[in-house]
Amino acid sequence: MPARYLPCVLPIPAVGWSPDRRALRFLDQRALPEREVVCEVAHLDGVIDAIRTLAIRGAPAIGVGAAIGLAAALELDSEGHGSRARDLLPDYAARLAAARPTAVNLAWAVGRLAAAGAAVPDAQLLATLQAEAEAIRAEDAAMCAAIGAHGRGLLRDGARVLTHCNAGALATAGIGTALAPIYAAHADGVQVEVFADETRPLRQGARLTAWELSRAGIAVQVLPDGAAAALLASGRIDVVLVGADRIAANGDTANKVGTYGVALAAAAHGVPFYVAAPCSTIDLATPDGAAIIIEHRGADELGTLPHGVGAWNPAFDVTPSRLVTGYLTDRGLLSPPFDLLRA
Ligand code: MRU
Repeated sequence: MPARYLPCVLPIPAVGWSPDRRALRFLDQRALPEREVVCEVAHLDGVIDAIRTLAIRGAPAIGVGAAIGLAAALELDSEGHGSRARDLLPDYAARLAAARPTAVNLAWAVGRLAAAGAAVPDAQLLATLQAEAEAIRAEDAAMCAAIGAHGRGLLRDGARVLTHCNAGALATAGIGTALAPIYAAHADGVQVEVFADETRPLRQGARLTAWELSRAGIAVQVLPDGAAAALLASGRIDVVLVGADRIAANGDTANKVGTYGVALAAAAHGVPFYVAAPCSTIDLATPDGAAIIIEHRGADELGTLPHGVGAWNPAFDVTPSRLVTGYLTDRGLLSPPFDLLRA
């Protein structure tokens, strides 16, 4: 199915290049929805900080940001000398890949740049890294469009969709993953109503999903995470669409914490539950969900706690593949063991 490109729904893409192509440019998601702050960084520490603090977030956007950031940081610190850039590359790549552990797109994108660099002489290194980073960015935008085209048929006129976290334009270099079918349907004049889980503790659903959908003119309302099961039980949801940070070879899926509970409730009430992701999020080297490293974040994200009280704050959980109706990818609706990707 040919992918139709939809215009960017954001004031600027969530991640991309500065106009001179010497820096990573992004919309700072920490400031949304109150302020639209555009940042540019070229230093490695700035790129790592942007990813760690969720200024750039969402698995595909993290991969694109790391690729562009790595190319820019090496250009800056090597002062344009390919041999110096080659000396710096292994350390820079390792530090970037360690910025967040769960989204496979990060290590995948950094690994792609390292492999492209290894295949060329020093004189071509910096230009090759820049071209590879741009290819990753452009491919991500195209994969989002393809997910939208493949998933568009899931949504009839009047469809009511529940989503968790933000897997939209803010999480990618294009129109998103879980939100891509919604944008595609909306562009065709199909009415879709979205229910966005608030997504504690950092409120990506309330701050980000609701922001980007409402500015695109799509009906959206926010619910507290704890209300999702009751909403599914009420019969007011036709389909659940969520993104993914890593899909293991058996289909177990890591996504924002709370996704597993939504999947359980959807199964209990007979509501189809789709995971939408580019094929770059499917990690055939990880056999199952037990092998996925789950990022744990600080207690400070949970707000004020009584003195001396600790916190358990995993950023992601794993939804077993048995709860997933289908995997909506840029290559169509897939199912484990994803033989198409092994060819
Ligand atoms: O911690 P975050 O905000 O980076 O978590 C993001 C998610 O869990 C998304 O659902 C996932 O990365 C898919 S984004 C297309």
